[in-house]
Amino acid sequence: MKMSSENIDSRKNRHLRYFTTDEKPHRNFFDDIYLFNSPLAPLNTDAIDTGCTFSGSGLSFPAMISAVTGGTDEGAELNRLMAQAAAVHKIAFQSGSIRIALENPELTPHFQLNRQKELSFYALNIGAVQLGEYPVSQISDLMCKTNAHALFIHLNKLQELAQDSGDRDFSQIKRSITETVKNLGFPVFLKETGCGFGPELLEHYIASGIAGVDTGGYGGTDFLEIENQGNSNSELMKPFENWGVPTPVSVMLNKSKNIELIAGGGVRNGLDALKALAVGANLVSFAGPVVRAYYKSGLNGINNFLKNFFTQFRYAMLLTGISCIDEIPKLKYSISHQLESYLNIRKS
Ligand SMILES: Cc1cc2nc3c(=O)[nH]c(=O)nc-3n(C[C@H](O)[C@H](O)[C@H](O)COP(=O)(O)O)c2cc1C
Repeated sequence: MKMSSENIDSRKNRHLRYFTTDEKPHRNFFDDIYLFNSPLAPLNTDAIDTGCTFSGSGLSFPAMISAVTGGTDEGAELNRLMAQAAAVHKIAFQSGSIRIALENPELTPHFQLNRQKELSFYALNIGAVQLGEYPVSQISDLMCKTNAHALFIHLNKLQELAQDSGDRDFSQIKRSITETVKNLGFPVFLKETGCGFGPELLEHYIASGIAGVDTGGYGGTDFLEIENQGNSNSELMKPFENWGVPTPVSVMLNKSKNIELIAGGGVRNGLDALKALAVGANLVSFAGPVVRAYYKSGLNGINNFLKNFFTQFRYAMLLTGISCIDEIPKLKYSISHQLESYLNIRKS
């Protein structure tokens, strides 16, 4: 289903405006993971090394600013500033969906970021359903024109169902994803946008050659709530208000699969990040908190959020007694009964 740029524009801007209002309190499942204090570890905070390699790129912290925007006037400035902050902090950056630029090639410059040459890892993003609407060569061409390193394909069934005119036919996604992974010529990742991956059969996609998965799990930005604001029948989706796999559960269910595993969805601070890595992720991603920081105080807001985030991450490493990222797998942790029960999976 093709959309006019006006439609995409106004919907994307509505999404952004949601973050100009106060954050509503909601359940965050990183509070269900407990790390242990290590008072005896002889460490110096200044000597803690947070550097890592992600998909062949060197980063100062195992983190990514996740897909938010691009292609709209309101989003272009935000994208530019987020990319700038990602370059300064030497973390990965992912733009929002490129669909708008595939429909309107004159918008390609929105995805050609000023500082992108300084970005260690820059990814583009597109929806799995939209993949089938464009030849892989057109996407590959855009990847080259924007100097991107990788493509993230998002899966967002609940978000689409919550839109009056959202997609309803997801039957072709396996074919489209497989074809893209085979022919794009760039690493391809899969991501959710807030509902997470359960005990999915990722094997087909891993065998096809995907580079990784971002859980995009439940517990962070609530797209059902956002979409419901523009939906003529919000009662319809009420039963699905708590739908989704909490991010830590999504990580625990999909770790050790020889792919990059990114914990996204509800990662609010540096302590959440260390918890996410302790339970099996090798990178964290965040979107909503960065948008909120931007609307509070622009580039300064984004930089302050990142600075605090990485200081918290370093402090969490110090408190748990580790001095580098390679030591994270040795961290012990415990989880709440509620998380434990999510992992108690039955077959019918
Ligand atoms: C304003 C906004 C726009 C977003 N647009 C996209 C998008 O175009 N493509 C995508 O895959 N995810 C998109 N997302 C989802 C995020 O990338 C992320 O997966 C999700 O918000 C969960 O992370 P969070 O809890 O840190 O916000 C968007 C998120 C926000 C806040």
